[in-house]
Amino acid sequence: MTEQRPLAAVLGTELELRLFNYRDTTPLRSGQVDDEPYGGGAGMVLRVDVVAAALEAVYGGAPEHRVIALTPQGRPLTQAVVEELAAEPELTLLSSRFEGFDERIVTQLCSDAISIGPYVLSGGELPAMVLLDAIVRRLPGALAEGSGERESFSADLEGGLEYPHYTRPAEFRGWQVPDVLLSGDHGRVEEWRRAQSRERSTKQ
Ligand SMILES: C[S@@+](CC[C@H](N)C(=O)[O-])C[C@H]1O[C@@H](n2cnc3c(N)ncnc32)[C@H](O)[C@@H]1O
Repeated sequence: MTEQRPLAAVLGTELELRLFNYRDTTPLRSGQVDDEPYGGGAGMVLRVDVVAAALEAVYGGAPEHRVIALTPQGRPLTQAVVEELAAEPELTLLSSRFEGFDERIVTQLCSDAISIGPYVLSGGELPAMVLLDAIVRRLPGALAEGSGERESFSADLEGGLEYPHYTRPAEFRGWQVPDVLLSGDHGRVEEWRRAQSRERSTKQ
């Protein structure tokens, strides 16, 4: 992931990325990081003392910046949330596995809990990468000039969906590119695009 644009474009300049494994700083023996749930039931739960030790080792205590737990029970990730987080100077993302976090991690050690969607994945690694990718695209220099300004959910399209795109050939198997896009009339093209964007957005 770090070799691919747009992440590669900002890594080392706008973005400093550090990865940590709870096992490297756990105070428990044999790299233990989770335990059986109180009250019984299946699965293992990530321990609060393990996460506290990781934050202590990395930041010397509770970080002053936002600490985000990735969990299906969190606030749904939207472009508005991405914009909000992209404006933060520093973030810590916490992932879990199996049954998830001891609740005290979320309530006491985190400032936010975010879900990438109403479904359950096996672990927080992919959600963390999804959030990272969405944030990175909003950092200065990540994208070619202007290309991030007008896209789905942007203010430029009033939070709606982007209009359809076409490229060469103008006709393929009888499937035609709309005439207006070949007209060279920028005013009509802009009008058509806005109308398409509105239509797609209201269908949602
Ligand atoms: C199997 S899930 C735990 C699900 C949890 N027992 C529940 O029912 O809500 C294990 C971990 O994957 C991550 N995860 C799974 N789905 C996610 C989602 N939709 N959004 C964010 N993180 C998710 C979280 O870190 C979670 O703690």
